[in-house]
Amino acid sequence: MRLLFVLAALACFGVPAFAQGASLTGSESTAEPKALYEAHCQKCHGPAGAPSAAMKRLLPELPALSPAFLANRSDSAIVAVLKNGKGKNMKPFGDRLTEAQMQALAKYIRNLAP
Ligand code: HEC
Repeated sequence: MRLLFVLAALACFGVPAFAQGASLTGSESTAEPKALYEAHCQKCHGPAGAPSAAMKRLLPELPALSPAFLANRSDSAIVAVLKNGKGKNMKPFGDRLTEAQMQALAKYIRNLAP
């Protein structure tokens, strides 16, 4: 019964998310940082860059990606975090995103206003 539920949940959420992620790794997708953000970042950082209270309880170190927070971080420093990860819970994305996609994301998150 439990397994059925898991499979149903995967069919609803997992597979489309995976398919979307896979289709976004092509080089033509660099114009889609919003879609990349929604596919890879939003579940922790929240739709507007501010983590939900529930997510904050789970991962207390989660920063709000506000302009003030990002102001003293260069694009290349952000790309380095995306590539290599940071701490225990910000996982590396270097194997899933291209350099150009990470650059586009670094710029995109500066426009979030949590
Ligand atoms: C599994 C949850 C999770 C996901 C998914 C995630 N992050 Fe994070 N992120 C974190 C946590 C936790 C931290 C805080 C890391 C620390 O300081 O220990 C963080 C930190 C950051 C920081 C700040 C790094 C710094 O210089 O201190 C940036 C920028 C960031 N994330 C961007 C992103 C982007 C863009 C994505 C999508 C590609 C993403 N994150 C996906 C959890 C996540």
